[in-house]
Amino acid sequence: MLDRTVLDAIEDPWRQSFHLCPARGLMNDPNGLIFWQGAYHVFYQWNPDGCVHQNKHWAHARSTDLIHWESLPVALAPDAVYDAHGCYSGCALDFDGALLLLYSGNVRDEAGGRSSYQCLARSRDGLHFDKLGPVIDGSPSGYTGHFRDPKAWREAGNWYAVIGAQREDLSGTVVLATSPDLHDWKLIGELIEPEESCYMYECPDLFVLDGCSVMTCCKQTQEVRAGNIYREDVAGYMIGQMDLGHARFSHGTFRQLDHGFDFYAPQTLLDPAGRRLLIGWMGLPTQPETPTVASGWTHCLTMPRELTLEGERLLQRPLRELKHLRGDEIRMPDVEVEAGTAISLPQVPEGAWELDISIEASIDADWVLHIYSGEDQSLSLAYEGGQGRLSLVRHCPAAGQIHERKGCDIGFRVERLQLFVDRSSVEIFVNNGIEVFTTRCYPTSGPSSPRLTAAQSVALHDIHLWPLAQRPA
Ligand code: FRU
Repeated sequence: MLDRTVLDAIEDPWRQSFHLCPARGLMNDPNGLIFWQGAYHVFYQWNPDGCVHQNKHWAHARSTDLIHWESLPVALAPDAVYDAHGCYSGCALDFDGALLLLYSGNVRDEAGGRSSYQCLARSRDGLHFDKLGPVIDGSPSGYTGHFRDPKAWREAGNWYAVIGAQREDLSGTVVLATSPDLHDWKLIGELIEPEESCYMYECPDLFVLDGCSVMTCCKQTQEVRAGNIYREDVAGYMIGQMDLGHARFSHGTFRQLDHGFDFYAPQTLLDPAGRRLLIGWMGLPTQPETPTVASGWTHCLTMPRELTLEGERLLQRPLRELKHLRGDEIRMPDVEVEAGTAISLPQVPEGAWELDISIEASIDADWVLHIYSGEDQSLSLAYEGGQGRLSLVRHCPAAGQIHERKGCDIGFRVERLQLFVDRSSVEIFVNNGIEVFTTRCYPTSGPSSPRLTAAQSVALHDIHLWPLAQRPA
């Protein structure tokens, strides 16, 4: 066990104030989300020694309110033969009062080939973990070394796990495994048919919400067009019904969970009040270096979100506890933005803030909410009524982001926007989380005033702006 902590403050204007981020090194997937013995535990993929994807440990943070986090000693380090090149993603389970971690041990050979072992570790005090070794020893026959990220649960007296996998024909799937005791596992089926050009599904999760089964997972695709290779990594969800007896998941289409530039590898937990909470990684497997690498750290986790179902859609709402971060409200009366004009909202506070606005506009009106605008960088949310398209537009040359645009088609009127802005990120919830945009951005100037420009008239109501700050627990 290493005696390293991970959340100590360091000087950096882009250091997040209410998002979990590492003191140094690289953070990626949230792992092992669980409410255990009176506290929330979040583990995450962490390379303590550099801002590159290597040497993955499980770092560990704990909270009683999902707002104030305490950094705990590293839970897992890649120091065994079966996890020598990384303690990869997995889950945490309560097993007869002990806290168990089920994770993927990643091992590389000299030629770069990879083997994967699904391993257990156990803790009695929630602080110190003893490795128990592999419980699935290598990839089962029919699958390559891309076999990882177990997420397990207990149902009808048995344990079940979904695991991301690549078949020997190099197509991706999610497999279902079962065990009576978490040690002896057998594969009982494949839950999804790969979409064309999908070579791997990472980080699957499967849970029940309002009587439906929901699978979240990360689809990795690769296509060759005109001699160029296009790779895409997308986190999404499918809603359906899980038939455990026949190991069959009948489901609807794969929908993207988030339309921003930085969202991947989400995992969920069930809290004591029965809420299904989701936390993701605000990063992607392949992306340019972030500007915080110069200060020795990179990436962070998203804020927690509460999941609900509305018909065929999964809604992500901002975690309600985040209200406790609010300072005094900065008030603003309702405003009418006339066609072809712009209005400025109040100046936002230094640091983190939250903005909640109701919008009244015709479904074919065009408008743009400028969140940051400066000569050298900008971030805006643009609605194009004619196309029914909502897009995030980011320009930050310092971070290698040149007029990037990413968005989604929406067939409904945008009525409410909730923005949660930290020192280097923005999370936007549209109409109570039916669509979400999560992105990193690295402002170089002080607080500004968001502006709304409208091609057709737009009315803004119920405008609330709050500074967000941590207070002592
Ligand atoms: C997703 C992922 C997982 C893997 C982990 C390694 O970002 O590639 O599949 O377990 O990261 O850090």
